Amino acid sequence: QQVETVEADVVVIGAGVAGLSAATRLVEAGHDVVVLEARERVGGRLWTDTIDGAMLELGGQWVSPDQDALLETLETLGLETFSRYRDGDSVYVDESGERIRFTGEQLPVAEATVAEMERLTVLLDELVAEIGADAPWAHPKARELDTVSFSRWLEQQSDDEVARRHISLFIGEAMLTKPAHAFSALQAVLMAASAGSFSNLVDSEFILDKRVVGGLQMVPLTLAANLGDRVRTGTPVRRLEHSDAGVVVTSDRVVVRARRAIVAMPPNLFGRIDYQPPLPRRQHQLHQHLSLGLVIKVHAVYETPFWRADGLSGTAFSPYRLVHEAYDNTNHEDARGTLVGFVSDEHADGVFALPAEERKARILADLAEYYGPEAANPVVYYESDWGTEEWTRGAYGASYDLGGLSRYGADQRTPVGPIHWACSDFAGLGFQHVDGGIRSGWAAAADVAAALASTSAGVGS
Ligand code: FDA
Repeated sequence: QQVETVEADVVVIGAGVAGLSAATRLVEAGHDVVVLEARERVGGRLWTDTIDGAMLELGGQWVSPDQDALLETLETLGLETFSRYRDGDSVYVDESGERIRFTGEQLPVAEATVAEMERLTVLLDELVAEIGADAPWAHPKARELDTVSFSRWLEQQSDDEVARRHISLFIGEAMLTKPAHAFSALQAVLMAASAGSFSNLVDSEFILDKRVVGGLQMVPLTLAANLGDRVRTGTPVRRLEHSDAGVVVTSDRVVVRARRAIVAMPPNLFGRIDYQPPLPRRQHQLHQHLSLGLVIKVHAVYETPFWRADGLSGTAFSPYRLVHEAYDNTNHEDARGTLVGFVSDEHADGVFALPAEERKARILADLAEYYGPEAANPVVYYESDWGTEEWTRGAYGASYDLGGLSRYGADQRTPVGPIHWACSDFAGLGFQHVDGGIRSGWAAAADVAAALASTSAGVGS
């Protein structure tokens, strides 16, 4: 097959929300841009699909009120949102297996544990306020907090095992989707800082506030439609030659010669490109210390949202169950009811080792525990399995191993000659969320625009 060669000011590698946001800003500034995407579709970790007749959000879906960059993008693109259904009681299952209905954010655990969780929340909120989301590696306490695992750090703060278990779940299973022994306390602070505070992050009313009518993939789909034939799908980038003069990027269907490149892939995949010359030592090392978490997003669709008639909001939660959290995920103006649940990290490993039917039975048994026996018989059942996706390899996002954030964080976005980096995993505010992906795309676009302006000025002078 003949490979076409095109010229552009900037080549963007990856048509996720970060790459498409960067490309949009650069086109608005008058630059020629080509976006190369490995998959046959745009959106990366945003993917709204119809499975057995049900519209499902296979990837990211929720929007929270602090996510200014995402909210601005939704407004610009004319996309509408709707609120998550949340009227009625939530369900909690305790260590003994007892199912307890409750309302509000306070979990039905012993009073002393509630008080201890509040104390730990204040402690984390204080650390977040002090350290912030932009440059956690620069704080004087960075190394100290980054060389202790979050689980060990919690043990140092509290003797209350149940309180620790819950706090660790909010960041571990629910966000970084890694066991709390596998990431540092500093990484946990960054996760909380990404939402403004730990209190915000654990408040499902806040963090899981709204969804987009038609699905969150409408954002990348609309951005890509506006970029038109600048976006090329089905063309994985294999090689990136770079020098002071610019880049030559070779993908399966097209070669792009450009002055600058923005690599907008998940960072665990950066190493799949053959860089010539090879990247510097610092990037070679840094990229090896980032890895994706693992979570199964489970979708179960029913003829009606039957739990609502029982006075349940659909919100269910237990650190002691396979499905550690679940919600009403019914689509906008849909008569059918959808539940979404999550199976994280080592729990996911455990059920992935089982035959598919047994895995499904175990997961549905948990939903039945939360919502009653009707939950065991959905009309549509689907597991989003991002670990098998070649161009992602996990979910939701990438985080550093112990010590990595303080050691390498300051350099994660540093360009290498004409190569810039963008992804939600390198964001401060909105880290690991769509909002952060947009922010990092915009930041990379601003850096590239400034670099192009300075080289143009140099040529003329
Ligand atoms: P992303 O991974 O989306 O894009 C990178 C692109 O690069 C992909 O399209 C990929 O195919 C492409 N690519 C890779 N290698 C390539 C190569 N060699 N050549 C060319 N292209 C290449 N967020 C949120 O805000 N609210 C939420 O509710 C959720 N929930 C959630 C659930 C699940 C299951 C997942 C997986 C994720 C979420 N998230 C989320 C996270 C959110 O989806 C995520 O942070 C952003 O979509 C990431 O956008 P990026 O553009 O940074 O990377």
